[in-house]
Amino acid sequence: EKMYRRELENVHGVPLFWSTAEVWDQVENFQAKPDDLLIATYPKSGTTWISEIVDMIYNNGDVEKCKRDAIFNRVPFMELIIPGKINGLELLAQIPSPRLVKTHLPVQLLPVSFWENNCKIIYVARNAKDVAVSYFHFYQMAKMHPEPGTWDEYLEKFIAGKVAFGSWYDHVKGWWEKRKEKRILYLFYEDMKEDPECEIRKVLHFLEKDLKEEVLKKILQHTSFQEMKKNPTTNYTMMASSGMDHNVSPFMRKGIAGDWKNHFTEAQNKAFDADYEEKMKGSTLQFRVEI
Ligand code: PPS
Repeated sequence: EKMYRRELENVHGVPLFWSTAEVWDQVENFQAKPDDLLIATYPKSGTTWISEIVDMIYNNGDVEKCKRDAIFNRVPFMELIIPGKINGLELLAQIPSPRLVKTHLPVQLLPVSFWENNCKIIYVARNAKDVAVSYFHFYQMAKMHPEPGTWDEYLEKFIAGKVAFGSWYDHVKGWWEKRKEKRILYLFYEDMKEDPECEIRKVLHFLEKDLKEEVLKKILQHTSFQEMKKNPTTNYTMMASSGMDHNVSPFMRKGIAGDWKNHFTEAQNKAFDADYEEKMKGSTLQFRVEI
């Protein structure tokens, strides 16, 4: 049976990987624990970056401890199920608490046990244009996704929400609204780029943790793009090569804000902006597209 490049399947109105859709009842019934920390993002928004930061905080800046395993094993991707290869639910059942859990699910699809247990959640959002560009490259290198087509074709699908995990617009707005009633720290990739120390301090405050200044400095250094790009436990080169081809495009690609300018044509940008205004109208959520 063909595993890669299969079409996405609709789960409660959201396109997900076929193999996740197949076991959706298991995902839905995932049992969160009160001390789980959930890292929620739309794909390509800084998930790996914030994951490494939080694991470093949990390990008091001990780099060697953070190199104990690849990031996708230290912070399992809950709903990622690739038959015979990877199962986020099983990985999570195996790791000791306090666990770090990664999800890309839109807020309305999150397993209810996270709400029942009042788990803390860190959400990271990134501007739509850079996400679209990063996601296009990721679609090409990570074969769980359907074929992306040309950039123009892909951008159409992104705008229409016909990509894995659905509409970026609904995702960022949905989690933004939820932060008013739940324990959610809502961060932005562009802020992390501009002033990582300030954003890490927000995380420390949210987690009610206090670290020595020297540990904070070490975390800053260890989680820079350059360091994470060359670190095999964070750059995804430890992922099975059958599923990801870093020669097509490396997982750690550019790590900047504003790369969309190298990809969007003027016409694409104009159409994107008009549609964006329509979709984001009425929301207080604001993004910076460059820094
Ligand atoms: S995934 O597959 O959804 O979990 O991907 P995710 O980790 O969310 O996003 C990958 C993009 O984040 C960039 N990245 C970073 N940028 C700055 N600093 C650090 N430390 C960092 N680590 C990862 C990564 O390069 C991807 O963005 P692009 O624009 O493609 O380079």
